[in-house]
Amino acid sequence: MKTITKAIAILSIAALCATSALAAEGGNPKKGKYLFKKSCKTCHVEDAEGGEVTPLNRTQAQWDRFFERNKHNADAWNKFSEGDLKDIKQFLFDHAADSDQPETCG
Ligand code: HEC
Repeated sequence: MKTITKAIAILSIAALCATSALAAEGGNPKKGKYLFKKSCKTCHVEDAEGGEVTPLNRTQAQWDRFFERNKHNADAWNKFSEGDLKDIKQFLFDHAADSDQPETCG
């Protein structure tokens, strides 16, 4: 009995990992929202140099790619720590165009 329970536990953990292969993980979305408003919005409101950016600009897969491939120009990007970027990514991902809670960041 015990081994079976263990096996089931291991299997469900494996399943969880598999389904979240394409997902932002471990970031703190609340902190991400705060950081996004404070630091990204300085350049990313309408008429600012970076143009308006909100979570809705991209789908979850597109945000994944954006952060993974480090697509931003480095001058602005390198000011953020890896932890900050993880949190910001989590916020954007959680509210992406195809997320459960699509949201702009007004
Ligand atoms: C110092 C100004 C500045 C800051 C700060 C900044 N950006 Fe940008 N961003 C830009 C500029 C300029 C562009 C457009 C051209 C480029 O990539 O060089 C851009 C482009 C982008 C794009 C692509 C534009 C689009 O419409 O698809 C995204 C997404 C983006 N930034 C997200 C972010 C996020 C998220 C943050 C905060 C972690 C951030 N930016 C911080 C200046 C900035």
